[in-house]
Amino acid sequence: MSNMKRVKIALTKGRIEKEAVNIFQRSGIDCSEVINKGRKLIFHNEEDNIDFVLVKAPDVLTYVEHGVVDVGIVGKDTLLEQNRDFYEVLDLGFGKCKFSVAGPKNSNFYSGYNRKKIATKYPNVARNYFRKLGQDVEIIKIEGSVELAPILGLADAIVDIVETGTTLKENGLVVYENICDISARMVVNVASMKMKKNEIEDIINRVEMQIKVEDILTN
Ligand code: PRP
Repeated sequence: MSNMKRVKIALTKGRIEKEAVNIFQRSGIDCSEVINKGRKLIFHNEEDNIDFVLVKAPDVLTYVEHGVVDVGIVGKDTLLEQNRDFYEVLDLGFGKCKFSVAGPKNSNFYSGYNRKKIATKYPNVARNYFRKLGQDVEIIKIEGSVELAPILGLADAIVDIVETGTTLKENGLVVYENICDISARMVVNVASMKMKKNEIEDIINRVEMQIKVEDILTN
């Protein structure tokens, strides 16, 4: 064990964190410390020589790209929004949701010739989507509770994550168009993939194997 290089893994705080901890636990990679954490942000797993750190979604790829962490667990939504350098190695199959265009129930978003306003936490995703459609829109960046924007008249529609659809429904909005599927991914720093090849491949293999076994058992 002593010649094993230490691997640092960044987990996205919040919804993804819990499922990420679960899949590591089930793969036999202990991160039980993260479960009983209080306000602590860094945890060490002695047996596998892994550090786990907790960071906000938009910061995961910043740490990964700079190589101060080797591995990140983060939503595909963040990967699509940020133009960063990394390897995407595994679809973890949880945190499933969709990027959608949504807006008020009774308005016809696609009618008329006026330039539509789109509110979103994901300006790049929204810009790319409408560019592909050849539709010229104005993007308005919002930090959260994006559903408010069309209700208050700030925007004609939103581009946001839809999981259960409850938030849209409870605010009188409907999906106009689905953009793409999203789920949690494992990403790896480009240099770490070479420098810590054995250690990182071992982690990938253990988690990948566990996901495959669970897939077989549930289908
Ligand atoms: C996300 C998203 C929606 C909601 C969708 O928000 O932006 O608001 O979840 O989930 P649902 O379809 O199951 O209702 P999040 O909770 O991440 O908070 P935010 O509003 O701060 O972005």
